[in-house]
Amino acid sequence: MHKKIRLAVVAGVMAAAAGAAIVAEAQTNVAQTVQARKDVMRGNGRALASIQPMLRNEQPWNAQTAAAAMTSVRDGMRGLPSLFPAGSGAQAGIETRALPAIWDQRAAFEAQVASIVTAADQLVTLAQAGNEAGFRAGMGAVTQVCGSCHTTFRAPQ
Ligand code: HEC
Repeated sequence: MHKKIRLAVVAGVMAAAAGAAIVAEAQTNVAQTVQARKDVMRGNGRALASIQPMLRNEQPWNAQTAAAAMTSVRDGMRGLPSLFPAGSGAQAGIETRALPAIWDQRAAFEAQVASIVTAADQLVTLAQAGNEAGFRAGMGAVTQVCGSCHTTFRAPQ
């Protein structure tokens, strides 16, 4: 092979390898971001599960447990938008149920986040004030946002 051509081929192979490395790294970042948001969502699930027995009167009311559960939802959800950066939707090698609507209707998505943060924050205040009846009455507002956001922005399984 002519020396110049050989050099060009080597350069081409190296560029391709660098490109593949960049793609692999980007994919690792997306995978980590997707895992982080799933962890937040599982935290939401655990928070709701932790207060279910109380809400069903299977366990006595515990203001601390109630406040802790809603603090976890509120704080987890505050950081949610940053866990849905552009380019972190469904793609090869990434398991996610995030729908394109998250990026197509960003304002609506963030409005759902804001609304659950507000609802959870109000419940923290109610629990800390020992207002069991108020807490019970307000729980629906939180679970309703879980459901409506999933309906619009999460692919069915
Ligand atoms: C602002 C929108 C939004 C709100 C509010 C929301 N979720 Fe989610 N949730 C999502 C999206 C989007 C996914 C899919 C994430 C993915 O697969 O990348 C998801 C996934 C999940 C999952 C599956 C996680 C996994 O391991 O794959 C659970 C469980 C969950 N959410 C529970 C909840 C609960 C409980 C609430 C309410 C306290 C809630 N979510 C509120 C958008 C939301």
